[in-house]
Amino acid sequence: MTRTQQLQQEINTLISSQKFNGNPPALYAPIAYIMEQGGKRLRPLLTLMACDLFEGNIPDALYPALAVEMFHNFTLVHDDIMDKAPLRRGKETVYKKWNADIAILSGDTMFAMAYQYTLKTKTQLVPSILQVFSKAAIEVCEGQQLDMDFEKQEEVSIAEYLNMIRLKTAVLLGASLEIGAVVAQASPGQVKAIYDFGIALGMAFQLKDDLLDVYGTQADFGKVSGGDIASNKKTYLLLKALQLADDQTRKSLKSLYRSDNQTETTQKIKQVKAIFAQLNVQNEVEKVMQTYYQQAVEILAHLEADEVKKKELADYASFLYSRDY
Ligand code: IPE
Ligand code: IPE
Ligand code: MG
Ligand code: MG
Ligand code: MG
Repeated sequence: MTRTQQLQQEINTLISSQKFNGNPPALYAPIAYIMEQGGKRLRPLLTLMACDLFEGNIPDALYPALAVEMFHNFTLVHDDIMDKAPLRRGKETVYKKWNADIAILSGDTMFAMAYQYTLKTKTQLVPSILQVFSKAAIEVCEGQQLDMDFEKQEEVSIAEYLNMIRLKTAVLLGASLEIGAVVAQASPGQVKAIYDFGIALGMAFQLKDDLLDVYGTQADFGKVSGGDIASNKKTYLLLKALQLADDQTRKSLKSLYRSDNQTETTQKIKQVKAIFAQLNVQNEVEKVMQTYYQQAVEILAHLEADEVKKKELADYASFLYSRDY
């Protein structure tokens, strides 16, 4: 077993040992449902890996890591309401299986539970962890609001899009790593470097998620294929397509993305994908994703830490980069 697999197992064991069910059942059953279905659990793994990288004590990082995963799952429960997504991890989303009221309240509870978990470590570490955690939590909400605003906003620049994904996704990867470094009492320079690594990795991660939304298979990805197109998400794919298209094609694309467009969803996805293919935008997204990934790899290479542990993190970053789910 690799060190990474060991750490992943520590996370999985901790999650299985939690009792998420409680009263009233309608509040707690969705929490158990989403927490026990898995997912990649990459954020808590990043917390443990960063702690390990800086020679910290893994048991001190376990509950903060669980906090990060609980927070992530809370964002998913609410995100699926906002995105009207019926499927996640190959299963019905919480608001579909139950209803939106339940999804809102279970999500709120998860957010509070995440704070409780951050308290379950060495007392002197708690203020610094909470500082990193709350900052990221606020930024994720900022990113999510921009994501929603952009659905309705006709003109969105690539810079605005990149800022939006930095907030909604990258900061949480950065914070997960930073929390691990804080537990290990790494130096300020190391803390900053590992956070920056997480931001670059997170940017590549969300670009990949946007790609998989269009080109992944529902069986692997576990979410409805073309969901971002259906809900008029201003992804890098779309923004690049608008940039590269001739006037006629740009007009068609803009019309397909207008909220009053009557095209049936399957047809709309098909037509948008045809335009994406014609303009080869997939390739453009892969290029920018590669740039961020490369940035992450370089930050890690310059970091002063044990080479074997750096390699574990680099290998995991590579796995995320080439994932199909
Ligand atoms: C999904 O995150 C939300 C994004 C930030 C793209 P993950 O892809 O980490 O979801 P799970 O937890 O593995 O299902
Ligand atoms: C991910 O955005 C950001 C958060 C959930 C905070 P998406 O809306 O792309 O995530 P998925 O694709 O539904 O997992
Ligand atoms: Mg979303
Ligand atoms: Mg979504
Ligand atoms: Mg997505």
